[in-house]
Amino acid sequence: MARAKSAEVVQHEPAVLLHRISQLVTMGAGPGNGSAGPRRGQAMREIGVIEDAAVLISGGQIVTAGKTREVLRDGWLKKHRNEVVELDCRGKLVLPGFVDSHTHPVFVAPRLIDFEKRAAGAGYEEIAAAGGGIRASIDGVREASERTLAEHVYSALRQAQSQGTTTVEAKSGYGLDAASELKSLRAIRRAAGQWQGTVLATFLGAHVPPPEFKENPDGYVELLCAEILPKVARQKLARYVDVFCERGAFTLAQTERILGETERHGLRSRVHVGQLTNTPLATILAHRPASADHLDCLEKADVAALAAGGTVATLLPGANYFLATKKYPPARKLIEAGAAVALATDYNPGTSPTISMPMVLSLACTQMRMTVEESLTAATINGAHALELGERKGSVEAGKDADLAFFELDDYRELAYWFGGNHCAAVMMAGRFADLS
Ligand code: NIG
Ligand code: FE
Repeated sequence: MARAKSAEVVQHEPAVLLHRISQLVTMGAGPGNGSAGPRRGQAMREIGVIEDAAVLISGGQIVTAGKTREVLRDGWLKKHRNEVVELDCRGKLVLPGFVDSHTHPVFVAPRLIDFEKRAAGAGYEEIAAAGGGIRASIDGVREASERTLAEHVYSALRQAQSQGTTTVEAKSGYGLDAASELKSLRAIRRAAGQWQGTVLATFLGAHVPPPEFKENPDGYVELLCAEILPKVARQKLARYVDVFCERGAFTLAQTERILGETERHGLRSRVHVGQLTNTPLATILAHRPASADHLDCLEKADVAALAAGGTVATLLPGANYFLATKKYPPARKLIEAGAAVALATDYNPGTSPTISMPMVLSLACTQMRMTVEESLTAATINGAHALELGERKGSVEAGKDADLAFFELDDYRELAYWFGGNHCAAVMMAGRFADLS
């Protein structure tokens, strides 16, 4: 049982003791996962389950976690017990709040026409070619005020929170001109400022070339690199730049150009790749993106390249489910090869209108043959690493942010077993409970 140094016990707000937790999943470092990086291979199954557990929290951070009787022996706690707020957590399953490392929340309307067309048998690319798809969401974003967009983002963050998510990556990408992309990123910042959880913004100006550049996609790449990206960097509106490298979106050469510019401006990158067609990953991975996301179409060499590098392989089975693709990403191959696998919702109006991480856990276990333990690792600590926040988020360990999710369940396996419902009873973010209503 590790304990943070007593200097870290900040006392300006009362410390909180959660005790008699029926089951606590710590995701803490174990014998096979002691390294500082994301969990890989067998270590993805070591999730650190403690029955009758306690967590001591102070100053928004975890001070110590372990068996209730061990935590109660903590020297600092013994001395200050009367100043500590105590909460009996019998009947609760507690885990690190989910880290949803891939969402597209800046849009104003669901795409119901696309949805109806797909139900009638049309494919995603066919619908996009006929003016649906990503381009169908552009007008709404261009016309909306920053405030309206922020309201939509905030509402998505609240929904995420109601299902146990405490950290969210949020992309722009439906504005696709300078003013609308910057507005989208400001909307993310505004919504993030109202929410108790943690939001990391990603600039996805390279989602698809907008209609006005349909005949001249290189012209749009030029605009992105010469004008929009430098503004995003200068105004510090995003930590990441994302590119959708795919047929109908951006070529490998265009992707590389944007990744190069991203580096020049001191921003970090992440990529959408291999969703519909295979793109060899070697040249992209040479840019060291924080994550490569989707990965439905992977060659053997790509699996090996991901396993050998630091880029987190982020799988988004909500998109496979919603598009009814026959093939899900090869999770087993990736895990067995030693890639660091994360799971995220890909919340967006076209391919994955869900912000539920428990739903993603269910899909991972039923459709990709991930174990519940691997799925939980992928949805917490590995998601944190996909956002380069592994030092602060994703596990219940001394010194980390006190971001916790509480479920009305007895056994962690139930998280992936029940689907379509919501068993989240509460979330705590930076040591404070959030109102779920
Ligand atoms: O991650 N692949 C690209 N972007 C989204 C889809 C966006 C949309 O259809 O609106 C995705 O699946
Ligand atoms: Fe996406």
